[in-house]
Amino acid sequence: LQGLRTRSFGRSLKIVEVTTSTQEEVRLLAEQGTPSGALVLAEEQTGGRGRQGRKWFSPPRKGVWMSLLLRPERPLSFAPQLTLLIAVAVCRAIRKTSGVDAGIKWPNDLLVQGKKVCGILVESVSEDERIRYCIAGIGIDVNVEAHELPADLQAVATSLKIESGRNQDRVALITAVMNELEDLYTLYEQEGFTPIKHLWEALSVTLGKRVAVKTPQGEISGVADALDESGALILLDDKGMPFPLFSGEVHLA
Ligand code: BTN
Repeated sequence: LQGLRTRSFGRSLKIVEVTTSTQEEVRLLAEQGTPSGALVLAEEQTGGRGRQGRKWFSPPRKGVWMSLLLRPERPLSFAPQLTLLIAVAVCRAIRKTSGVDAGIKWPNDLLVQGKKVCGILVESVSEDERIRYCIAGIGIDVNVEAHELPADLQAVATSLKIESGRNQDRVALITAVMNELEDLYTLYEQEGFTPIKHLWEALSVTLGKRVAVKTPQGEISGVADALDESGALILLDDKGMPFPLFSGEVHLA
């Protein structure tokens, strides 16, 4: 990766032509004791996975389908903050390399004009409430053409090519993601979550909007008001009562 200026992220790189899911590739590496920062890229995934058991469309050579192994020596409660940090890093990398105005929908979908251009899946494996490792899966629709999107995605997904009108360099984008991620991770280690939270807020398309979310207690709707220090999204319900959301899927109303 030319232009990579990281110490660890993406320094060990495995590129595979086709795999079921880069998440599984990294899980194997992690269990073999591979150090933090290892990155696996696939040209194509046959069983790409999204959040909440969804499939992730991963056609050959059209996107960035990659997973990064991280070994943060932290309690499991760090995982939500890490998820938000990754979204900020990818969003900044997309903006810098493609000029496309991506924003973050809580917790970590990247949207352009309301359509999804990138999804992030962070899977954490823990022991006694400490993180053993995290697998940060990042899927970016880079050069997918509008007519190549499956029918069910036409209305809800887009790509950097569709939005910018030109082919985008995938290698430059991957390099930028690794550089941004390591910079933010270092910032987090030095100064904690507050500066990351501010960057996230500035890129958010969720804050200030009416959202609806399904929770185990039923559907809640309200205005997305703020992010708290743990990374939870604070909704204000119709009575103005704050309701913290730790996970789930918000729908912009
Ligand atoms: C989502 O928005 O639901 C998350 C999508 C995550 C997709 C990426 S592509 C690389 C990695 N491998 C997978 O199978 N999923 C993630």
